[in-house]
Amino acid sequence: METHEINKRFLAHFQAKDHTPVPSASLILDDPTLLFVNAGMVQFKPYFLGEVPPPYPRATSIQKCVRTGDIDEVGKTTRHNTFFQMAGNFSFGDYFKEGAIANAWELITKSQDDGGFGFDPDRIWVTVYENDSEAAGLWQKVAGIPSDRIQARDGRDNYWDMGVPGPGGPCSEIYYDRGPGFGREGGPVVDEDRYLEIWNLVFMQDIRGEQSPKYGHPPIGELPKKNIDTGMGVERVAYLLQGVENVYETDLVRPVIARAEEFSGRRYGADHADDVRFRVIADHARSGVMLIGDGVTPGNEARGYVLRRLLRRIVRSVRLLGVHEPVLPEFAAVVRDAMAPSYPEIARDFDRISEVMRVEEEAFLQTLTSGSRIFDLAAEETKKAGGNVLAGDRAFQLHDTYGFPIDLTLEMASEQGLSVDEDGFRTLMEEQRQRAKADAAARKKGHGDLSVYRELLERHGETDFLGYTDLQATAKVIGLLKDGQGVPVVREGDKAELILDRTPFYAESGGQVADTGVLLGSGGEAKVVDVQKIVPGLWVHRVEVIAGEIGLDTEVTGSVDQTRRGSIARSHSATHLVHAAVRGAYGRRAAQAGSLNSPGRMRFDFTTPGPVSTDVLTEVEEEVNDYLQNDVEVQAYTTTKDKALELGAVALFGEKYGDNVRVVDMGEYSRELCGGTHVGRIGELGLVKLVSDSSIGSGVHRVEALVGTDALKHVRKEQLLVSQLANTFKVPSDQLPSRIEDVLSRLRNAEKEIAQLRTQQVLGSAGSLADKATDVQGVAVVAEKVDGDIDAGALRSLAQEVRNRLGSRPGVVALFAPQGEKLSFVVATTAAARDKGFAAGKLVPSFAEAVGGRGGGKPDLAQGGGSNPAGIEQAITALRGAVAAG
Ligand code: SER
Repeated sequence: METHEINKRFLAHFQAKDHTPVPSASLILDDPTLLFVNAGMVQFKPYFLGEVPPPYPRATSIQKCVRTGDIDEVGKTTRHNTFFQMAGNFSFGDYFKEGAIANAWELITKSQDDGGFGFDPDRIWVTVYENDSEAAGLWQKVAGIPSDRIQARDGRDNYWDMGVPGPGGPCSEIYYDRGPGFGREGGPVVDEDRYLEIWNLVFMQDIRGEQSPKYGHPPIGELPKKNIDTGMGVERVAYLLQGVENVYETDLVRPVIARAEEFSGRRYGADHADDVRFRVIADHARSGVMLIGDGVTPGNEARGYVLRRLLRRIVRSVRLLGVHEPVLPEFAAVVRDAMAPSYPEIARDFDRISEVMRVEEEAFLQTLTSGSRIFDLAAEETKKAGGNVLAGDRAFQLHDTYGFPIDLTLEMASEQGLSVDEDGFRTLMEEQRQRAKADAAARKKGHGDLSVYRELLERHGETDFLGYTDLQATAKVIGLLKDGQGVPVVREGDKAELILDRTPFYAESGGQVADTGVLLGSGGEAKVVDVQKIVPGLWVHRVEVIAGEIGLDTEVTGSVDQTRRGSIARSHSATHLVHAAVRGAYGRRAAQAGSLNSPGRMRFDFTTPGPVSTDVLTEVEEEVNDYLQNDVEVQAYTTTKDKALELGAVALFGEKYGDNVRVVDMGEYSRELCGGTHVGRIGELGLVKLVSDSSIGSGVHRVEALVGTDALKHVRKEQLLVSQLANTFKVPSDQLPSRIEDVLSRLRNAEKEIAQLRTQQVLGSAGSLADKATDVQGVAVVAEKVDGDIDAGALRSLAQEVRNRLGSRPGVVALFAPQGEKLSFVVATTAAARDKGFAAGKLVPSFAEAVGGRGGGKPDLAQGGGSNPAGIEQAITALRGAVAAG
């Protein structure tokens, strides 16, 4: 039975029993306690808690779910999916245990002809919570399950909650016995592989507190009503009904494995390690597509990081299957074809999904390439020093600087006969984690505890920000902190935090950097180096006292560095104009993803549905500069959020706004919710020059621009560069492109010619090598060391050429080329030799150890490398020995 059919039957069964079908919620629901939606009940949580009256007493759904807690188990067991579908039925204060048990029993045991799943009732086992004799009794009464197939388990297995405070309850799980071939007798308490859980019925009745009843802590209250939440694992039912071995071989997942088989030329089912890789690819490709479909983009934090990890694990597994080309969009297409019948949005949005994958893969492959070079160097150094353990700090550097996953380092090291100091690596990782934590904490809170700031806020209220209109103001010092501790006075040389009742200084926020300037008191002066809103509403000035002293409760005059502020304001206004132009070009799907407004320079990140062309950016630049000439006045005003959105103001996705918002207008062209500081009229920007554009991760594009005189300086610098180049190439500047192209193409041709000459030279020695063939038990063996710094490609051609010259004789050619401290080798066999059972790949192990190497290949040709050129003679003897032995 196909998965889509399982879903259809499930919904139909419960609809016939008056359940309202509810579509799956997005994988990212606005629930701060969850990274991803991981159960069917998540979207109904407010109904269980009684926060919102349920619109229907009964519901049913097929929910998309992602669970990434067991990511390392994927592919190794029969049942771990990161993405899966949970089919569920829900009662909100309507039926309870008896209804849930009867409904589930009917569907699983009803024959397939009658629309059920047709499981054999005699192979069903169930578990119940500790002393829930009511449930146990109902299973006997309603389903006729004998008591020896009903097992009681404690909270760890049979209590369900969301892992955080919220609704919960005891549960009863349904298992299917796959038979004696799959494990030990004795029910789910003995073996959960043989007895596979397919459905969990939760009797949702409690409120769980900080500690879970799973571990014996009593619930902190009762839900207003008794409810039902069930979850059937669709993939598990599919794998049982489809008669396959595991969840990865079901109809919606297996096609990706097939595609990976095509790519790699390897077969699923032939080798255990490869099989795990195939399954990882299939599982993660599906999760990746579904997550991107719901708006997650790869990144370095939270959801984005999980997605990145999944995608990178695919790339890595593919690589370990011997494929080095980009593959993600190909897998994505297979997933789309499988999933679209149930999730049409995946097909509609496919171009974007595929693009996000393409970009992420490209970036990671780049990482792998540069990392591999560093790895080779490190490996070489290790061997040169006579060691066989790659130092922990090198593995750490690979990870930290090149994003190289440790398991890849381990894998590559073992290919070279090295091991890795994993303990050393982990110590460094832990140290870095601690440092990062301390840094983040220090940056956020200064050195103190947030409670100090909260108290100040409570006592004095929010800081009055005057900086939209005033760049200088007198204010009272209401807080002074040194190393996080309140102090009465700060003196020359002190670094401190200073809180004022009002301030003209802008605190870093909304992508705009903080103001700097000075604070002048009657007895001293301080430089303001940074301003942060450490708790919302409280402006904290980070200062260095440069003269005298400043005391608590005294007055100071704060002056913002005006020139700097002017140039920040120009950047920020430019960002709004670029944002408007980008939206003009790409429509609403180009959403702002971040920005930085610093003096004279702006950076704007946005997501796009596809690649960004240079033409479009040129248009954006032109449009912005055209618009500057209108010199419209910038208007800022406060209004209600609803009104602002009605006016069409652009709000940033994910930002939290209060009920009253500030809107910044630049004529009709741009209207955004924004708390930043801007120029008075846009003419002040003078010139906006885009200087770089790049992709910074999947689907996110970054443009940077210089504004005003900084833009002019940039143009001047570029001009100078062009004239220098024109001088060097001795042509007028407009002829530079064709001149450079010309020089490059001559260079390429020359390189090609050199390579050809070298190859000819190498191949020229084929004849004399073939003449050196000696007879070993009826096989012509050419086993020689080849000098002259030949690369692996040329060596291979040479071996093939020598083999050709051996003609129809049984022949084995083995050539070794030392390259400094390393060597490469090639073994080739003639067809007649292969008929006699000599496979090139199989001969490699006979001599590999002698040259400190590894390698492998097909029966006709095998290639490899080693680290001990001194062992070549010995290797040659060993190879001859192997041929002699037959
Ligand atoms: N919420 C329960 C689970 O996830 C049943 O749907 O297992």
